[in-house]
Amino acid sequence: MRYLVLSDIHGNWPALEAVLQATPPFDRVLFLGDAVGYYPDGDRVLDWLMEVGAEGVLGNHDAWLLALEALPKEGAVLEILAWQRARLSRAHLEYLASWPWRREVEGTLLVHGSPCDPMEYLDDLEPARQGFACTEARLAFHGHTHLAGAFLELSGPRPWVRYQRFAEGGELILPPAVRALVNPGSVGQPRDGVPGAAFALWEEERIAFFRVGYDLEKVARRLREEGFPEWLYTRLTLGE
Ligand SMILES: [Fe+2]
Repeated sequence: MRYLVLSDIHGNWPALEAVLQATPPFDRVLFLGDAVGYYPDGDRVLDWLMEVGAEGVLGNHDAWLLALEALPKEGAVLEILAWQRARLSRAHLEYLASWPWRREVEGTLLVHGSPCDPMEYLDDLEPARQGFACTEARLAFHGHTHLAGAFLELSGPRPWVRYQRFAEGGELILPPAVRALVNPGSVGQPRDGVPGAAFALWEEERIAFFRVGYDLEKVARRLREEGFPEWLYTRLTLGE
């Protein structure tokens, strides 16, 4: 089984289109959370995820959108979520609400943040060590940081935890006795300094990372059409 592994699409439809044009064939889609937030096309992104029957987990933006009434009504992030929510159908909302915070596929854990806490950022070796302690899975996929890479843990007499960056793409073949916490990177808003849409393909021990450039002007146009703030475009051009 070959899985297309996606995270943090954030309503950026042109970025998802670029992924679908570039990806080699795949069997199923795993989604690590944050379908919505930031960019205008949350509805189209959800349409596609529903259409392909993606196995998703909730991200913080997804959960905030579902619970907007309980949150303070201020800040650009929440304003965007309220705008998106008004454009979602009941079917979109029910689909989003059906996602758990974590799930397992073939013994592999899917979670938005850390295996310890879906809202926590796996952005350094210490949180990664704690993350490994919170799961027995050999492989876990996560998102949230928008950084493509993998934390690797070797157990045994001389254990270590290391980080390998895959912002420019690349391949990880999981060695025996090594566990991994893998982030495919963000489709919609990379933050590792490399513009473009990030995604991964997973098949057994092999994880291939990709980064594809696309016409960012398409996103700029959508932002202008909908009156979204300019900084969302600037972030895309910088990959930050
Ligand atoms: Fe995110």
